[in-house]
Amino acid sequence: MYQEIDLDQIEVALEPPEKEPEREYYFMAKCRERVRAFAQKNGRFPTACVVNMGCQMNARDSEKLRGILNAIGYMPAESEEADFVLYNTCTVRENANNKVYGRLGKLGHYKKKHPGMMIALCGCMMQEAHVVKRLREQYRFVNLVFGTHNLYKFAELVWRAMTEEDMVIDVWEDAGEIVEDLPLRRKYSFKSGVNIMFGCDNFCSYCIVPYVRGRERSREPRDIIREIERLAKDGVVEVMLLGQNVNSYGKNLAEPMSFAALLREVEKIEGIRRIRFMTSHPKDLSDELIEVMAQSKKICRHMHLPLQSGSSRILKAMNRRYDKEHYLSLVEKLRAAIPDIAITTDIIVGFPGETREDFFETLDVVRRVRFDSAFTFIYSKRSGTPAAEMEHQVPEDEVKENFDVLLKEVQRIGAEKAEELAGRVFPVLIEQQNEQDASLVTGRLSNNSVVHVPGGVSLVGKIVDVRLTECKGFYYLGQIEDENVG
Ligand code: 5AD
Ligand code: SF4
Repeated sequence: MYQEIDLDQIEVALEPPEKEPEREYYFMAKCRERVRAFAQKNGRFPTACVVNMGCQMNARDSEKLRGILNAIGYMPAESEEADFVLYNTCTVRENANNKVYGRLGKLGHYKKKHPGMMIALCGCMMQEAHVVKRLREQYRFVNLVFGTHNLYKFAELVWRAMTEEDMVIDVWEDAGEIVEDLPLRRKYSFKSGVNIMFGCDNFCSYCIVPYVRGRERSREPRDIIREIERLAKDGVVEVMLLGQNVNSYGKNLAEPMSFAALLREVEKIEGIRRIRFMTSHPKDLSDELIEVMAQSKKICRHMHLPLQSGSSRILKAMNRRYDKEHYLSLVEKLRAAIPDIAITTDIIVGFPGETREDFFETLDVVRRVRFDSAFTFIYSKRSGTPAAEMEHQVPEDEVKENFDVLLKEVQRIGAEKAEELAGRVFPVLIEQQNEQDASLVTGRLSNNSVVHVPGGVSLVGKIVDVRLTECKGFYYLGQIEDENVG
């Protein structure tokens, strides 16, 4: 376990070990010597800022990257005016990529005035060859570029970037091994993401994830359980099990195990009070999972179940492998088994070939399901995916019009659904001090709704009973009824 490793005991004059994670500890120790030399010279330790630009998987990766920088001796910084800046990028939609170039340009200007600083880029966007080419040609000031498959090599890559003149680029086409026991620096003390699998095998025709995150690989259940047990000992009360498609967890393990069976094991861990997971694919949502959720005292009353489209024709073109009826039947089953469950979703508007009729099918599902909330996206063409080659890309103004109609509808329904719970009392995990008003703290219900209540930071990490006094559309104001729930 990482916490037990004393980096000062490592013989950095020797050759690096071949085996992981020992090899990374070795490079952490080596980098640390440099950092200490910096501190001696400058009278302060260097600072490092890791900017997370993507989903929860990325956020978890950022915690690992911060953990390694921390072990090396960097001081964490929020601002990009730091000695080491790392962008952990996302590439699911094109505008995310454009933002990175803009931000990087600005950082380049800052670096001109601070030539000693280091700039690094990683994450999904780096897995695309055209991105790396552009960086190599137009952003020569970047020190280090690496991808999603060799994140565990970060310490070694930092060492190379510290010692090599040229831009260090190391992007792997395929997934490497799953390396356990590297350090990480958690954002919250009382809740944590836990990767249960990596990659995706679904190849939805619009989605770049399978190309940048590689094939689906599940972690061994004992590694997952061990990690959660440690987290619980460390004061964590809520875990979020993370994977692109958690419902197909364990299929490729030497000893296959279902996601539902994994949840049953996690449920047994003492100290863990809430279990969440993300993301479920409708095609793999099993009756067994619904049953485990219904019986569980810890699994949160929330299911994020991406719909993408309500049109069976478009779903087929998207290669989603379910149709409108199947989706509706899943929702029915979920609600029958777990009446208080909140169902949220992702919807794409403007997939190639989407007609008005197709869009109305989506609206129909939205009205029938009555989602508690929905993330709505305008289709973004990702080169290399099958959808990018499809004909009949939908005209921009039509997409925009449909998007606005959809957004209004999901917001109207979401607000109506939220209103239904107003006045009632629910256990709430207090997560942080309110960002706008320091006299309030902000927490979450089991169903993932957000509530702001008067209270101090001492409540952070506690589960308290809160009366929802007022519904503000997509969040609540509340009052604490009982502080001693946990
Ligand atoms: N265009 C728009 N949205 C997309 N998503 C994935 N790929 C694309 C794309 N090319 C959305 C899906 C997915 C969410 C994480 O991002 O709705 O569920
Ligand atoms: Fe992309 Fe589909 Fe995999 Fe989700 S399930 S990451 S949308 S390919």
